Amino acid sequence: VRGAGQRAGGPRTQVPALICQPGVVTRQQAHLVFAAFDVDAGSGRELGELFAAWSLAAARLMGGERSARDVHERGDSGEVQELAPAGLTVTLGLGPGVFERDGEDRFGLGGRRPAALRPLPPFPGDELQPRRCGGDVCVQACANDPQVAVHAVRTVTRLAAGAATLRWAQTGFVSGGNLEDRGRTPRNLWGFREGARNVREPRELERHVWVSGRDRSWMLGGTYLVARRIRMRVDAWDACAVADQEQAIGREKLSGARLDDPRFVAQPAPVPAGAHISLAGLDRNGGARMLRRSYNYFDGVDPVSGEPDLGMFFVCFVCDPRRQFVPMQQRLSEHDPLGRYVSYTADAVFAIPPAPQPGTYIAQGLFAPAG
Ligand code: HEM
Repeated sequence: VRGAGQRAGGPRTQVPALICQPGVVTRQQAHLVFAAFDVDAGSGRELGELFAAWSLAAARLMGGERSARDVHERGDSGEVQELAPAGLTVTLGLGPGVFERDGEDRFGLGGRRPAALRPLPPFPGDELQPRRCGGDVCVQACANDPQVAVHAVRTVTRLAAGAATLRWAQTGFVSGGNLEDRGRTPRNLWGFREGARNVREPRELERHVWVSGRDRSWMLGGTYLVARRIRMRVDAWDACAVADQEQAIGREKLSGARLDDPRFVAQPAPVPAGAHISLAGLDRNGGARMLRRSYNYFDGVDPVSGEPDLGMFFVCFVCDPRRQFVPMQQRLSEHDPLGRYVSYTADAVFAIPPAPQPGTYIAQGLFAPAG
């Protein structure tokens, strides 16, 4: 599945794109539809067949293949017939439940479980809504046309009939994801720039994102995705003075520069030790970093509180969530000054196997190991 739309942003990120699935280092498209499924298939073989069908469908969708036959004979819903692929990437993943759920190894795959794939622990202050959490398998569809991303998820959902059921889905958007160069990164719904200190260079990706020889062979060159749905209390945040917001984040709102950067800040001052970027910075996390690829979301009005339900669908990629994500989230949940203005309403973790070799499908080494 190395179809159209997976090309990474610049020369710096092109090498790993040859082995990982698209949608990880791919320059961020404007729209996201993320879907998680519960697997109903009775055996590992059936689940493998689903991944074979999904891999094929993903390649066709990303290649923009459309025909009247799709609509008339294959059950395609038809809403993209005249639309270009719009940079679509489709990324498939497997959750911990594929290997063990309630102590049961449902598919006989427990022996091939990737070392780093464990359910996330509870974090202080979490307000998780169980129906929005977890899932056995996932599909991340990103495109510059929202209808194309929705269609991709509808297509894989249809193909999964009888084998997997849609559990939850999240849509998201980001403006200016094509301007990921430093200093011009997209803004979140609080108006701050995201991704200034993101992992980009091949050597950093090698160290912090791609799975190496210490994990299962079928995961080599893959990665792990952690998602957290973070609702942002915009009214309370907007009522704060911009200077206080900047102290909480540790960066200037408009320029995105660190408060201590004399190149961009008129009166540079030390970044507070308790600021978000200090707590999430590599010094405080034993050098651990992550590739963040989050989307903003707006899901209307919360029927209970009457407040807008909007925020960030945080997505990051790491080579070991236990070592990189969990300690950082723990620290942020305990001390982050942003904590007063956010609630964590859902989370999930998935193994993202590498892109398949020609003639194979995603995670084939898990379902049908060679030899
Ligand atoms: C609504 C919640 C959040 C908001 C609004 C937010 C916002 C920001 C902003 C504005 C920056 C500075 C620009 C940048 O480097 O991207 C930043 C940096 C960062 N954030 Fe967050 N963030 C949130 C949640 C999280 C979570 C849950 C994590 C991880 C568990 C995280 C990890 C990081 C990291 C690693 C950095 C880079 C720190 C550095 O090395 O300078 N953030 N965040």
